[in-house]
Amino acid sequence: MNELLSKENLDYQERAREVAEKFVRPVAAELDRTGEYGWDILEALKSYELTGAWIPKEYGGQDAGVLNLCLVVEQLSRACGGVGVAFAVNALGSFPIIIGGTEEQKQKYLPPIASGNSLIAFGLSEKPSGSDAGSLRTTAIKDGDDYVVNGQKKWNTNGGVASTFTVYALTDPSRGMRGISAFIVEKDTPGFTVGKREDTMGIRTVPVNELEFADCRVPASQLLGHKENVGFKNAMMTLDRARPGVAAQALGLAQGAFEWALRYTSERKQFGQTVMSHQAIQFMLADMATQIEAARQLVYHSARVIDSGAANVNKIAAMGKVFATDTAMKVTTDAVQLFGGYGYCRDYPIEKYMRDAKITQIYEGTNQVQRLVIGRALTRELKELTDHLDVVVEHFPEVDG
Ligand code: CAA
Repeated sequence: MNELLSKENLDYQERAREVAEKFVRPVAAELDRTGEYGWDILEALKSYELTGAWIPKEYGGQDAGVLNLCLVVEQLSRACGGVGVAFAVNALGSFPIIIGGTEEQKQKYLPPIASGNSLIAFGLSEKPSGSDAGSLRTTAIKDGDDYVVNGQKKWNTNGGVASTFTVYALTDPSRGMRGISAFIVEKDTPGFTVGKREDTMGIRTVPVNELEFADCRVPASQLLGHKENVGFKNAMMTLDRARPGVAAQALGLAQGAFEWALRYTSERKQFGQTVMSHQAIQFMLADMATQIEAARQLVYHSARVIDSGAANVNKIAAMGKVFATDTAMKVTTDAVQLFGGYGYCRDYPIEKYMRDAKITQIYEGTNQVQRLVIGRALTRELKELTDHLDVVVEHFPEVDG
């Protein structure tokens, strides 16, 4: 699986694997039970110089790109999907600033995230606007040197532990999604509170919260890029770059569950032989391994395309996300099946993989939204994809409509 990785990639992978095995795996079940955030893991990530891998060097990061980010998330998620996303969501929260922040905003907000001393979250979704992100209702109305923000955000991963939030709100409600702007909001801003924590099925170590804004005065200097009404595009570009991180989380979960399934079926005996030596089980394991490898190549490829600076990355990012997360759901469910009744019990590590995997098909755009993005791209590319067929089509009998 490492054949096409560079020396730098292998180095990130190895360091992340060490953190995962030494600091994450031993506490994964406990963090799942208690819902506590893995602060010691964050310290380990800092000491292994993994925080801020995706942040440019001039802002304290390592400029290591999306592929290295994915390699780290994959390794962490092999041991715990919650820890994987707790790491990845800092990329989701900081990409808006990297993409659209002013020089001053980048200088101020990116270095503490790069060092791991500050965590960040991404506030786009609301109760009435999930997949239809452009229909959000939170408003940010200019008043003197401030914007007065009112509304509520939903599904804010990292909400309870972040000190900085990128938040999308309507500065011109009459223009709908074309009136959305992005803001950088600090945790202590008066009128801003981190609200209810969700009682989630999986990824239980990371807090997912609502955010409340009640006449919250955000200084105009916090308007991202000092530009109004370009927030929706910023959010879409951010998601394009962050979705490989979710795909890598899913990949790590699939790989982690697969390793447990291999181990268990090679030790458990039924009908006088190991479960693994039954051909029916070998076929299942073969499919799981093949699906994981296909997902890995697509996830790494999508990250490489983004790192190349290509302009149109939404289709490939969506393809990687949809394929890897559907694979994770299938593989983790099959892994539970291979554990039999034990797989259904919390005494064993495998059911957690299935619970953690489910959210990857939902957040950062449901897999239905990913298919919509891919379908729209195919519609745009139709001519380019099919023009060469004209020569044959000319000889077809005419088709009505
Ligand atoms: N890059 C740049 N611009 C883009 C873009 C992209 N990928 N996608 C769309 N745009 C631009 C379009 O060009 C268009 O621009 P103009 O105004 O100049 O015409 C504008 O944005 C509107 O585009 P659409 O007409 O395509 O918008 P739409 O309303 O049909 O929505 C959508 C498109 C893809 C469905 C989008 O709403 C979407 O991605 N929804 C899912 C949102 C999502 O992923 N939410 C998850 C939030 S994070 C989370 O899960 C929580 C967490 O903490 C982990």
